Amino acid sequence: MAEVDGQVSEQAGAIRVRALAAIEGAEAMEDLQRVEREFTAKNGPVGALLASIKTAPPLERRGIGQAVNELKGAITCALEQRREALAADRLAAERRADDFDPTLPAASLDVGSLHPLTHVVRRLEEIFTQMGYAVLDGPEVELEFYNFDSLNIPGDHPAREHFDTFWCRSEAPEAASARLLMRTHTSPVQMRALERMELPFRAIVPGRCFRNETTDASHEHTFHQMEGLVVGEGITVGHMMGAMKTFLRELFQKDLEVRLRPGYFPFVEPGFELDVRCPFCADRKTRGCSVCKRSTWIELCPSGMVHPVVLRHGGVDPERYTGFAFGLGLSRLVMLRFGIDDIRHLLGCDLRFLSQF
Ligand code: PHE
Repeated sequence: MAEVDGQVSEQAGAIRVRALAAIEGAEAMEDLQRVEREFTAKNGPVGALLASIKTAPPLERRGIGQAVNELKGAITCALEQRREALAADRLAAERRADDFDPTLPAASLDVGSLHPLTHVVRRLEEIFTQMGYAVLDGPEVELEFYNFDSLNIPGDHPAREHFDTFWCRSEAPEAASARLLMRTHTSPVQMRALERMELPFRAIVPGRCFRNETTDASHEHTFHQMEGLVVGEGITVGHMMGAMKTFLRELFQKDLEVRLRPGYFPFVEPGFELDVRCPFCADRKTRGCSVCKRSTWIELCPSGMVHPVVLRHGGVDPERYTGFAFGLGLSRLVMLRFGIDDIRHLLGCDLRFLSQF
């Protein structure tokens, strides 16, 4: 037994001497990798020593195992030291080289940024959720029923002209109310909310809308709106004004007047255009600025009290409940907030524009 043990430790010692010499002699990383492969491979000298365990008498196995482990440890340690030394040599050589210029700027990192729309939507969601509103979502490819009929805009209603609708082509002939379209506003989610929310509720719906319009600086076929809907007992126009003032105060960090003008939308009665005092010139002595076109008022959003017909379509009793709704033009709000003068930038994917935010 003692003889075999002695033999093993002799072999291990010989391998160690050869390995350490080879490691020390490696002049470059590639040499070192070659040495590492040579000594640590399964069929290399260490592997062969380990394999001899199988044929050794059981009492000697432990000794062989220990010897192999020590050998492996010594080789790994030497490899590591040599690797560090070579790396340090390489760095020193680079520093000595004529073309090394420590004053050159580092390669720049391209860090992404949030889209201006995302900035504004996140802020609005923050403000409205603090005011107790739920944030809802609805389909962009919508049923004609939700986009129009249920909102008191039947097939022959002249208001349909106002929405230049993208219709979706379908193979199978369908009943008129099952036709599909790209939603022209976020208002269809009013109906979906009435159908599934428990009363009373407050909700906002930010989202994309689509209209088949000729594009220019203020019109785009794809744009963003944010619908608001509050339904409960005893809800009045006063609540709507209050909600709008609160949200504007949060957004612009100052108290701004709002005013209502009559407006017509088939799904609200009465309907309004809600204007806000221009936040960009309200505290200046000058009457108006270029943003509000010298009027000191900015058109903010169409709004109104939810039409009883709409409530009924949504399964809500208009004798008991009332509600208000508004349709914020998100794209426009983003343009106002960031001073963007062409709506087409918003979906233009031009990095020169996007990297500014
Ligand atoms: N959905 C309407 C539009 O896009 C706006 C609106 C929303 C009007 C809510 C009144 C109430 O034109």
